[in-house]
Amino acid sequence: MSVYLGIDIGTSGTKTLAVREDGTILASATEEYPLSAPQPGWSEQDPAHWWRATRDSVRKVLADAELSAGDVKGVGLSGQMHGSVFLDGAGEVIRPALLWNDQRTAKQCADITAAAGGRDELIRMVANPALTGFTAPKILWLREHEPRHYDRLRQVLLPKDYVRHKLTGEFATEVSDASGTLLLDVVRRVWSTELMGKLDLDPGHYPKVYESEQVSGGLTASVAADLGLAEGTPVVGGGGDQAAGAVGNGITYDGVVSATLGTSGVVFAYSENPQVDPRGRLHTFCHAVPGKWHVMGVVLSAAGSLQWYRNQLCQVQQEAAKERGVDVYDLITKDAEAAPAGSEGLFFLPYLTGERTPHADPDARGAWVGLSLRHDRRHFARSVMEGATYAMRDCMEITRELNIPISEVRVSGGGAKSAFWRRMQASMYGTPATRINASEGPAYGVALLAMVGTNAYGSVDQACKATIRTIDQTAPDEADAAVYAEGHKIYRSLYASLKDDYARIADFVGR
Ligand code: XUL
Repeated sequence: MSVYLGIDIGTSGTKTLAVREDGTILASATEEYPLSAPQPGWSEQDPAHWWRATRDSVRKVLADAELSAGDVKGVGLSGQMHGSVFLDGAGEVIRPALLWNDQRTAKQCADITAAAGGRDELIRMVANPALTGFTAPKILWLREHEPRHYDRLRQVLLPKDYVRHKLTGEFATEVSDASGTLLLDVVRRVWSTELMGKLDLDPGHYPKVYESEQVSGGLTASVAADLGLAEGTPVVGGGGDQAAGAVGNGITYDGVVSATLGTSGVVFAYSENPQVDPRGRLHTFCHAVPGKWHVMGVVLSAAGSLQWYRNQLCQVQQEAAKERGVDVYDLITKDAEAAPAGSEGLFFLPYLTGERTPHADPDARGAWVGLSLRHDRRHFARSVMEGATYAMRDCMEITRELNIPISEVRVSGGGAKSAFWRRMQASMYGTPATRINASEGPAYGVALLAMVGTNAYGSVDQACKATIRTIDQTAPDEADAAVYAEGHKIYRSLYASLKDDYARIADFVGR
């Protein structure tokens, strides 16, 4: 039997899948770990947790699927992007990793932009503007705030690449994840020594860059013995969680775009050429398909806004759900369905943790605007869903502005579970919302990349076509679509009206 492991080092846990060459999932295991916020706006994790979770979840899938060492022909790695793992000369972790959602580096972003010679120059070098989530500002933060740690620094790795180092002993990354460091020349798919020079960073501290399907090393003898795998089992480059998830969704040709409504929301579009948004609102990164790129918009609190609403304001629905043995989201969705499209003028801005696309504003905050005596919990529920989906529409519109065609939107995540939210998405985007059979995301995508890297398939596209198929399609509702087209104009102007107030509120609370 030929089996491939896909390992995804997520923010809340590590998920490992064992996938047979025909795409069948044989076993899945997830091991969770904590996230720490030592100060407001900080977000850190101990890389030792990722390694423990990787070992435990790999052992579990091997046992559950009753696999022997010889069955596993390749391993693919994916993970949360942008996190900074700082290693010393002995390969030991210097301090906890700063994660993608850490917001402490606003000053370092400004410093990077200035050192690059301005925003346009920075975008010319690395295709993207400096954002607090990215890796480079974290490195500058370490140099400025923890010089003793910085002096010991010899290697900077991304989360999944730390796990690769533990598995293979290699210092390696691949183009899709490296794009999110802000140090990759995304157009040429190599490190930007030009920007590193301007920032006075040592190019020797950065790992070798591979394409996502290329083999980056093999399992060491001791790890193989420890996990019950064969020494030398190839580990391919893999991908950052978004690019890997896109491979798992079959986003490997022009016109097909994914809309993933999870805690955060991501609009991801394939692109034959590097399409750079001159205003830097969308990220332009290398795709996990060799020689291809993608653009991506990230909404920080998408289905996360509905989760906040559930946790904070839905005690009644939670109790009813418990009593009736149903999912509380089903009750909230029923509430939402009972309000008309447009929520009778109630708008929700989903900026609960600031916003990336299109505003790149860590100070932006959530708001309900337009409240009146008429509004009740039906409108609250619907407006939260609409607000998150308007934010996704922002990303779709900028994608279209870059002349990237959108003929099909593949929806996934919590926001794709109910027919109601799928219909809302189709009406909001003006395109049918398609669901596919594979819903396992990044771990599935990198298992496919491992198949390609070990020649089970000739290309990523071939692997996707052999394993992924459409299961249903939801058409837009024309009347709702017309309401959302008008509503979106109002939604968009609300951020502009509140922008200065957000900055004043941030000052007010001392940020
Ligand atoms: C992508 C991003 C997140 C993280 C965590 O730019 O920040 O998707 O990778 O999942």
